[in-house]
Parts: sequence; structure tokens; C-alpha cells
Amino acid sequence: MANFRRRRWRESMAVRLDLNALFVGAVGADGLAPEDLGRIEADLARVREDLGARRAAGELAFADLPHRQDDVRAVLDAAGAVRGQFDTLVVLGIGGSALGPRALHAALGPAPGAMRVVVADSIDPETFGQLLAGLDLRRTLFNVVSKSGETAETMVQFLIVRDRLLRELGAVDYKQNLLVTTDAKQGALRQIVNDEGFRSLAIPAGVGGRFSVLTPVGLFPAAVAGIDVEELLAGAAAMDERGRGAASPLADPALALAGALWLLHTERRKSVVVMMAYCDRLATTGDWFCQLWAESLGKAVDLQGRTVEWGQTPVRAVGAADQHSQLQLWTEGPRDKVVLFLRVEDHGEPVDIPASYQDLASLAYLGGHTLGELLNAEQRATELALAKRGRPSATLSLPAVNAFTLGQVLYLLETATAAVGALAGIDAFGQPGVEEGKRLTYGLMGRPGFEAKRDEVEEWLGRRDARFVI
Ligand code: PA5
Repeated sequence: MANFRRRRWRESMAVRLDLNALFVGAVGADGLAPEDLGRIEADLARVREDLGARRAAGELAFADLPHRQDDVRAVLDAAGAVRGQFDTLVVLGIGGSALGPRALHAALGPAPGAMRVVVADSIDPETFGQLLAGLDLRRTLFNVVSKSGETAETMVQFLIVRDRLLRELGAVDYKQNLLVTTDAKQGALRQIVNDEGFRSLAIPAGVGGRFSVLTPVGLFPAAVAGIDVEELLAGAAAMDERGRGAASPLADPALALAGALWLLHTERRKSVVVMMAYCDRLATTGDWFCQLWAESLGKAVDLQGRTVEWGQTPVRAVGAADQHSQLQLWTEGPRDKVVLFLRVEDHGEPVDIPASYQDLASLAYLGGHTLGELLNAEQRATELALAKRGRPSATLSLPAVNAFTLGQVLYLLETATAAVGALAGIDAFGQPGVEEGKRLTYGLMGRPGFEAKRDEVEEWLGRRDARFVI
């Protein structure tokens, strides 16, 4: 029986949220008083009810993803069908369509003997050109991923790749090297799939890019890399059950984190949240989190249409490297940050530090420890160094990095995002602020219907004052 189906193992792999280092007792005036959390409990109870009602009405599609067994079967079938046929999977996508797959792969992949997986979210001609030049196209499967099926960056990648495959493999065989993940019904990509008969997977309705890591968007590349996607979803489901079974909202890690970050922002002016992973494999989870937090919560208006210009700026950092880069700013610079550590208790196979140079006190103490011990000591030290300067932090602690613990973390952070959105009274699921840039690009690239946007850019450029181009 797989480990994640055993109760004891599951309990031993429970992710813990430690809020101690963000209270007044730890950091002084910039911290929260326990009564603050008590005060927010009623608001969180309302949020819990609201999210529950939206979920029951089918309006919170991401929340049900851990339980969609049909999607898992479709993903495992699709991954099984391509196994042995290809050496490399290239994911073509951007935003949530790239960051989710990349986070999973960096944390958990690849299993020995599995296909190489590359996530290509760049349209820099040099980067993309070099990637294509280094591939054996016959042995490469391209997974085109786009919820809307229209994102310019992903579509141009698709057009270029399709053209090369057509030329190299011919008009019949080239289709074997493409698998499309897109909306089940809408968008240009779905139309192309229907017209040309590419293999495809469906992104469930109502799930946008940044909440799509537990859909076929993340699951298919993960399965191809040999990651246990059932264990991943079991981890997410366990966090869901923990939340739903919690006696109070403050006993639900997602809501407790949401409440704490909300209070720190609105009442202690912590407008920046730093996710600092003390584990290289989780660094890209930080990238994924940055998109989730930024795009979901950075909003101009609330649900009533009032201007709020809300948001908390996410920053991604990696321990221990960023102790020697950004930490100075966090400890002595503006008091605008709260740090969320990702800590791993068991880093796996130990790497011992040799006990050499015993006559040099500045080196001798390191011998006999492991690298994992040093990394975790540095995390604790950074937490206390911040606290001593009055800078709050919280820690998400993973017993180990595996699909079950990562599933919990992803689901917790998604739920916390939705909860902060509800506390702020904003729509966490749209991204109107990125649309204008897209329209202006369409204009510049000559898309019919966007001529006025092209004129706007030209007028904008025409206003440049040569004196200030130095
Ligand atoms: O979270 C989002 O919705 C966005 O960041 C999208 O992931 C990104 O814009 C790509 O969109 P699409 O998947 O439609 O190509």
C-alpha cells in the first residue's frame, strides 16, 4: 500500500504553521497581540462560511480539485500513452500555465528513468531558439498549455513548434508530438484541437491559471516526470479536510495564515510578504506563490466597485543565499515586511560535514554536523535575528519534501489567497490589470480590431522628449 494511504504516515507528514514569531511577545510593537487574532476570528468565520457557500454553488472550482478522480485518470492515461515514445516533454505556457508545472517538477521530479521535462515560458528569441535547436524533435512531446487558448506568448510558441514539426515529421505524424491542455469548450486552442484532432486534456471550468497547478496543467507534466500525482492530490485533500474539520477558523492553517497576514498588512503596515524557502527544491514554489498572491490580491476596486488599490507585494527568497543578499534590508530597512519561511525538517540523505582543521576554531565547530542541520540552524537564526529587530515572521514546516507535503502547502496557500481576497472584499480570481498591456500588444502586432491601441502607443512614443533620452 502506498505510504500516503497509511494513516500514521499521513499524520507524520502533516505540514505545520508556526505563528509564534509574529506576536508582540516575540517581536514587540510590530507584532500581533493574541487578542488581535481573537478579534479577527469572527471575520474569518464569515469568510469560511462565504467560501463554503461559494464552493457549494460551484463558484470556487480550485477548492474541489483534490477530489477530481476523473482528471487524475485522464492524466495518468495520457502520461502512460506517451511513455517510452519520447525523451523530452516541453511545456509551452506562461503565468500559471508554467509556474505550477515548474514548481512541481523542481520540488519532486524527475523520477529515475522518467522523461526530461522542460518548462518554456520565454519568448526571448535567443532562449527559445536555443531550446528548439537543442531538441531532437522526433523524440520531443510538446504540451501546449493555455486556459484561454489565446495567450500571445504561448500561441506563438505553438505556431513555431507546429511549423517545425510539420516540416520535420510530415503532415500526418507531427500531431503525435503535440498534446494540448486547455479549456474543455472555449478558446482558439480548443477549436484547433477539435479541427485538427490533437491529443488534449481539459482544464476544469472556473479554474484560472494561477489556481491550476492541481489540474492537468500541473498534473500531466508531473506524471510524465514520474511524480506521484495521486499522493500530491491526497496531500491537498488532507489540507482541505483539516480546514473543513477545524473546530475554529484559527485552527485551519490556511485561514489562520490569511488572518495573520491580513492584520499585519492592514494594522501593522506590512505591505510586503517574503517567502523564504530553506530548501532549493522549494525555491520555485516561491515563484508560484508570488504569482498567486500578486495577481489574485493586487486589485484596484473592491466587489462594490470602490477604489481600494489593495495588495501585498510578494517577494521570493532562498535561504541561506539571501541571508547574504536581502536580509540586511529586512532587518534594518523599512519595517514593511513579514517573512514566511518554508522549513524542511528532514532533508533526506544526509551530507556530512567533515571534521577537518580541528585546530581552527572558526571551522572546527562545523565538523560532525550535516548540511541539513546547518541549513535548519540558519533558518532558526534568521527567524530570531529578524525577531530581535522587531520584524515578524511565520514558518510553514514540512516534515520532508514529498508529493504529500507539497500538496498540503499548495492547497493551504491557494485557500489563504482566496481567504485574504474575501477579507479584502475583492475578486481574487480575475486579473483586469494585465489586460490593457495585452490589448496594446495586439495593436502593435497588427491584430484586427485593435488599431486604436496601436495609435495610442504611437501617440505615447510621439510624446517622448529627446532631452530625457540620455
Ligand atoms: O493566473 C492567470 O490566470 C494568468 O497568469 C494566466 O496563467 C496567464 O495569463 C496565462 O493564461 P492562459 O493559461 O490563458 O494562457
